[in-house]
Amino acid sequence: MKILFVTSEFADFAKAGGLADVSAALPRALKRRGTDVRVLMPAYQNVLDRISQLKVVASLPGHASIEPCLIGETQTPDGIPVYLILAPSLYQRSGTPYTTAEGYDWGDNDLRFARLGLAAAEIARGLSGVDWTPDLVHAHDWPAAMAPAYMVWSGVTTPSVFTIHNLAHQGLFGADRLDALGIPHEAFRTDGVEFHGYISFMKAGLVYATHVTTVSATYAAEITEEPLGSGLHGLTRGLTHEGRLSGIVNGLDAEWDPASDAHLLSGFHAGDLSGKAVNTDFIRMSLCMAPSDGPLFGIVSRLVHQKGLDLIAEAAGAIVERGGQIAILGTGDPGVERMLLDMSRRHRGSIGLVAGFSETMAHRLVAASDFFLMPSRFEPCGLTQMQAQRYGALPVAHATGGLADTIEDNQTGFLFHDFWVGGLLEATNRAFDAYTQPELLADMRRRAMAKTFDWDGPAQSYEELFSRVTGLPMERPP
Ligand code: ADP
Ligand code: GLC
Repeated sequence: MKILFVTSEFADFAKAGGLADVSAALPRALKRRGTDVRVLMPAYQNVLDRISQLKVVASLPGHASIEPCLIGETQTPDGIPVYLILAPSLYQRSGTPYTTAEGYDWGDNDLRFARLGLAAAEIARGLSGVDWTPDLVHAHDWPAAMAPAYMVWSGVTTPSVFTIHNLAHQGLFGADRLDALGIPHEAFRTDGVEFHGYISFMKAGLVYATHVTTVSATYAAEITEEPLGSGLHGLTRGLTHEGRLSGIVNGLDAEWDPASDAHLLSGFHAGDLSGKAVNTDFIRMSLCMAPSDGPLFGIVSRLVHQKGLDLIAEAAGAIVERGGQIAILGTGDPGVERMLLDMSRRHRGSIGLVAGFSETMAHRLVAASDFFLMPSRFEPCGLTQMQAQRYGALPVAHATGGLADTIEDNQTGFLFHDFWVGGLLEATNRAFDAYTQPELLADMRRRAMAKTFDWDGPAQSYEELFSRVTGLPMERPP
């Protein structure tokens, strides 16, 4: 089966969060099982900086104010074909995929990501000179959500699957952009792309895709109600009733293995945790934290409202008083960063913060931690709690979305149900208690570290879905 995987992030080339990890890992898992997957993404400047070979394979026309582009083809070193959309005026800038270096949304994000969706529709229609047309288009989150819509509007009958990674970000643009985006006026209705007077890219994905998935079963249920339905709960509920919305939990890339992780100062495994302590010492030292026999709580996170870090600021005093330390790596909203910086200043030597994005530091911090704090208000799936369990850092987390689905309370982590500081502290206190009982702690760590969160299971669920949607038989894994 041939799948076009449409995404705005791909960990090999451009990463802002978990979408990049999933976009890099799921195509590889599908390919290992025999599916012919090709990735389509924008050629941001930092993507072009990272590739050595590019062959231009097609030229696509413009549509309304969406400018024409070239399609370049490259391959990752392990053989994943990637189609890059070459539109220098849209993508060749410094900054993140979505924002300027200062954190402001690009003013032309509507055109930038409409270009992505439109290119997918054109590839699905068949490119002259390219001997490959997908059997199915798999689009991810609001930046790719226009793909199913442009496919339907241009009469392409190829089926599509749209995966929601975070319903809170919907890609809303003013109604005055309808003509610029080439959206048929009759589609600007509540059963089309209209959302409270705006154009909603997310809604386009939900309305026009053949099937919709999201990244955990619990989140799939949560988004059928408010508040997590974010105003689209009527639509998601309808999709669920029609059997067109399902949850498939993410996996964890196999490179997250504490025994072979090249980022670590010392590797370790469940049978011998001595290497873990080397990473702990390093993190304490690099974050200017005092030597301590108490537990180290880690956080690796985008610093945004979703992640509930305000609860950490409220709980910090009590955690430090009980002898705990907190090590944080994160970047994002300047307000959240300032809050955490103030907190670390108030608890010098006990709370350390590294403001920034560093792959190596993320691996080391997870390896260093005894426990891992994730008080997310909501979490569609979450990958860091899986990374933490794999590295013997037991998550202390809000029981929401993928956190509820991938952490077993009192077995591989500590869950709290009501989002408030008392809930977080109650779960944290259970972690402190476990820390003083070496056998219990070792037992929980063993259980957590045995979970590989293999992508094979999720990949099989996607294949079954693709097969149902296309009517084509499933590949037989080699
Ligand atoms: P989200 O996609 O909402 O940010 P996930 O838990 O799904 O949350 O994925 C986050 C990914 O980004 C993980 O792989 C995590 O290790 C990584 N990450 C987050 N913040 C940082 C950071 N400051 N430096 C390095 N990696 C980070
Ligand atoms: C989004 C969600 C996160 C999820 C990731 C990958 O960023 O916030 O929970 O793990 O997508 O699906």
